[in-house]
Amino acid sequence: ERGRHKHFMAKEIHEQAEILSDLVLRSTNADRTRVEGPASEVDFSATTRLVMVACGTAFYACHVAKYWFEQLARIPVEIDVASEFRYREPPVQAGDAALFVSQSGETADTLAALEYCKGKAGQIIGVLNTTESSIGRASDVILPIHAGPEIGVASTKAFTCQLLTLLKLAVSAGRQRGTLSAEDEARIVRQLYSLPRLIQDAMTAEDEVRDIAHWLSSARDILFLGRGPMYPLALEGALKLKEISYIHAEGYASGELKHGPIALIDEHVPVIVFAPRDALFEKLVSNMQEVMARGGQVLLVTDEEGARIAQDGTARVLKMPTLDPLLAPIVYAIPAQLIAYHTAVTKGTDVDQPRNLAKSVTVE
Ligand code: F6R
Repeated sequence: ERGRHKHFMAKEIHEQAEILSDLVLRSTNADRTRVEGPASEVDFSATTRLVMVACGTAFYACHVAKYWFEQLARIPVEIDVASEFRYREPPVQAGDAALFVSQSGETADTLAALEYCKGKAGQIIGVLNTTESSIGRASDVILPIHAGPEIGVASTKAFTCQLLTLLKLAVSAGRQRGTLSAEDEARIVRQLYSLPRLIQDAMTAEDEVRDIAHWLSSARDILFLGRGPMYPLALEGALKLKEISYIHAEGYASGELKHGPIALIDEHVPVIVFAPRDALFEKLVSNMQEVMARGGQVLLVTDEEGARIAQDGTARVLKMPTLDPLLAPIVYAIPAQLIAYHTAVTKGTDVDQPRNLAKSVTVE
């Protein structure tokens, strides 16, 4: 039930601190030094490539995870949307692990991509919310994301639970492959325990988001920018906004701006910049300044120190907690969801049942 919330989407956004907290507890040891559970049962020791395939938001979770698997486990990673992957006839070999992410477990294109990999890939992994499902039945190994039923058509808690599940899998892969030391694993697991508090802190930006929603809801186009794993988060922010508010939105890797999209910028285009203080922060800020120099109205999403360094000239700032950059895609998903939600509510659209969309896409 929706409880005190006006929409299922609001309820599902607000549940995330608690659900992620349970998910951390479920899959780490009592000493808080190691990832355990199904994620550590997948064997990556002989894997030569990880292929991750999904649709929509689940695909963006794969896209974020690509950065984690490369960084923590040094595994070559290929990602694709299922509707493209299944018809490309891509070479898939025994050294490949093929991983499919799906909330419903019934998405037709994702299932077809999985069937294509059967008998070719060394192992088939399903990262699923609904484990009793077609994709569940066809997987060799299932990693449940434990998000609970997601009713709102726009995926929110499933996305952050997919991310956390994939992060744990990348950590476990790094341990198996000797690219992640026991100390580094313990450090990451300690960070995971801080995740519920970080999510709650991020949620305190909601009043500010409500305020900004009037500005955003009157825009015709909105851009989202990020670098590194915040690039797929920009894509997810844009998808979420367009599907429930019907405002045209695009996500870009901010380094790509000057290769075309900067032509779109003028004072009517809000530009939302996801800027945790990671290794690419300064580069991102200089891209943001290029946007402001052309009249772009920037909504900067960053932490206290990031705001101190970079807020000059921005239109608005959303404050996020200071965090380990590894967790930024999970925590910054909150403002992405809140922005979409409050913009849509301000516009008066049907948030839980947006036009033309179905929760489970069982036809291709
Ligand atoms: C967006 C959204 C969709 C789904 C996509 C895949 O908010 O919900 O993009 O992520 O249709 O669905 P599943 O995860 O059920 O395979």
